[in-house]
Amino acid sequence: MTDDTNWKEYFDNLAENEVIEHKKVGWGSNESMYSRFYTALKLLSLKGKECLLDIGCGTAAFEELVVVKYPALEIHAIDISGKELHVARRRNLLVNFKIGSIIDIPYPDSFFNCVTCFGVLQNFNGSLALAITEMVRVLKVKGDIFITTMDNDYVGFKSGERKPNPMNTYYVPEELNELLESKNITVVKMGAISSQKLEGLILPLHQWHTFYVWGQKNIQ
Ligand SMILES: C[S@@+](CC[C@H](N)C(=O)[O-])C[C@H]1O[C@@H](n2cnc3c(N)ncnc32)[C@H](O)[C@@H]1O
Repeated sequence: MTDDTNWKEYFDNLAENEVIEHKKVGWGSNESMYSRFYTALKLLSLKGKECLLDIGCGTAAFEELVVVKYPALEIHAIDISGKELHVARRRNLLVNFKIGSIIDIPYPDSFFNCVTCFGVLQNFNGSLALAITEMVRVLKVKGDIFITTMDNDYVGFKSGERKPNPMNTYYVPEELNELLESKNITVVKMGAISSQKLEGLILPLHQWHTFYVWGQKNIQ
């Protein structure tokens, strides 16, 4: 369902014109936005880790949670939309914000202990393999990678109970898993995240349209 939407323009426009915070990044509700973050924070232990990169940070709602929970962590965040970053910077967080794309991450190899990417791949028309290669490139050995995106095999789409959003790109989770494993990542866990609850609710894969993949980088 990939289209030729110019996602930079799309998100620049949302950041500038939407008033409600979650709408500035295209989420339908606060629950949609925060359920992903709380699930990541439940699963990942960032204690003692030095450096995190969040890709497609939007207005930095995730960063605001992380700064409070892990004050010693060095946080970097990139986004293709300068307008989203403008809103993010207004939070006055100790975060290093930069313009950057998932397929050209402006950091050296093996720089981060953790890379997160919430809800970006569904709004991305490029090569998934290239995006994964870039994310893994900047990750240190034993570092964590946590991605959330949309499931092509969600049972609700198959039954016709819900319709996929034609703007989004949907992925087969097992293919994402295979791709990560081919790039030196061991997948630790995958599951669906119900975005109906603010604090997130982990369900078996395909039971909701949003899924997460959590992996760790191997020693070669
Ligand atoms: C649905 S929003 C999610 C924002 C944030 N991660 C959150 O969950 O609130 C998608 C974000 O990804 C950014 N984005 C889209 N394509 C990107 C790309 N190729 N590289 C980096 N960021 C991108 C958009 O500008 C937007 O801020």
